[in-house]
Amino acid sequence: MSKSIGHEFMVQTRYENMKQSDQGNKVAQPALEMDYDGTRTIIDLPMPEEIPPITIDFMAVVELRTSVRDYQNIPISLLELSYLLWCTQGVKQVLGNKATLRTVPSAGARHALETYLLIHNVEGVKPGLYRFLALEHKLIEINLSESISEEIIKACLDQSFIGKSAVTFLWTAQANRMTWRYGERGYRYLHLDAGHVCQNLYLSAQVVGCGVCAIAAFDDEYMNTVIGLDGEEQFIVYVAALGKR
Ligand SMILES: Cc1cc2nc3c(=O)[nH]c(=O)nc-3n(C[C@H](O)[C@H](O)[C@H](O)COP(=O)(O)O)c2cc1C
Repeated sequence: MSKSIGHEFMVQTRYENMKQSDQGNKVAQPALEMDYDGTRTIIDLPMPEEIPPITIDFMAVVELRTSVRDYQNIPISLLELSYLLWCTQGVKQVLGNKATLRTVPSAGARHALETYLLIHNVEGVKPGLYRFLALEHKLIEINLSESISEEIIKACLDQSFIGKSAVTFLWTAQANRMTWRYGERGYRYLHLDAGHVCQNLYLSAQVVGCGVCAIAAFDDEYMNTVIGLDGEEQFIVYVAALGKR
């Protein structure tokens, strides 16, 4: 009987089936962050140190977490966005050119995810698609075309509530940052890493009066094309819409 491709993936990525990784073969380590075009507009974000300390009932935050698909038409501030980005991908420490330590865990501290943002309603920021530069804690403009929001909603199989979000997070992977160390098994870890990131978004959103809904129903190829990813080395992993509750 033929096995499912999912089962086959789990078997082929067991340790006993792993080949020597690029790291084991002394291949140079990929950069810690995906390249970007420095001539594009870059937006400074308030630094995490500017975020006032927040005291909150942690159990309440955990127990009250729920997926929210209905958002108020109220903007979020740049400081709130900066806080959410810090909680989901904030770089706490750079270990030479070897690794980063962030507010979320990552297998082997590989941190192979990049964060794109579909911005609809953030104070002082033009609507459009941006990328978060985690090492710099800044945003870079990617695509401000009028149709970008429609395209991303279409890529998410017409989940129209995305259109009401203040901002929708799109987490993509740059696979070789992970597979360099773990080979094909690294594909498991990319998806596990994304789970931590999205959970931190759910929890930190509540602190700033926002609600979140995770989204994994999307047309991969269409989404990759819309964002401008090759779909092989870089690809969409996970999405989450966010707005004021
Ligand atoms: C991996 C994953 C994918 C999901 N994809 C979607 C989605 O595409 N659209 C959606 O409306 N909700 C999506 N959700 C939200 C779930 O439907 C939601 O978490 C679930 O119904 C439980 O509700 P709760 O989050 O309020 O506890 C997803 C959740 C996860 C964890």
